[in-house]
Amino acid sequence: MQIIKKRRSIRRYSDKPVLKEDIQAIIEAGIWAPSGLNNQPWRFKIVANKKQKDGLAQFTKYGHIIKSAPISVCIFLDKSVMYNRDKDIMAIGACIQNMLLQAYELNIGTCWLGEILNQREAVEKYLELNTDYELMAVITFGYSDKMDGQGSRKKIESFIIK
Ligand SMILES: Cc1cc2nc3c(=O)[nH]c(=O)nc-3n(C[C@H](O)[C@H](O)[C@H](O)COP(=O)(O)O)c2cc1C
Repeated sequence: MQIIKKRRSIRRYSDKPVLKEDIQAIIEAGIWAPSGLNNQPWRFKIVANKKQKDGLAQFTKYGHIIKSAPISVCIFLDKSVMYNRDKDIMAIGACIQNMLLQAYELNIGTCWLGEILNQREAVEKYLELNTDYELMAVITFGYSDKMDGQGSRKKIESFIIK
């Protein structure tokens, strides 16, 4: 509960590199998410070099976050294993949340970028990946000395249907 509540979206990072082993552990957390029929529809593209980061950044108004982060991971739905679009997308959401929480445990800040989906096709073309891969999100990873920001949520009562 502490990790769930203390995790915040981090939008500015220090230059300290993120180890590939840590990204590996974060992806490992992601792939242990549940998925319908255990079809594991997630795919990951790690973007760490400056040229590719700058390239990716041009497709979102939040590009400064991608440029600031030492590593971003693009998360895709593999349409070739899809069995139910809604359920597969939900599974990918679970995968991403696992990744954010594992990163937080490793003291690595993250930001889930969805706005970039407005230019989904352009990003897919730019990365030149298999056309079965549909972009779901970009997650930025990096260190920050501001990991303890105050979050806010509405009161629990406002979500419970009477
Ligand atoms: C589906 C989704 C899309 C998001 N897209 C963006 C985005 O494009 N840019 C951004 O800065 N934050 C984005 N966020 C982060 C939210 O703004 C953030 O999670 C929310 O304000 C709550 O803050 P917290 O994560 O610090 O608790 C996104 C989060 C989700 C789950």
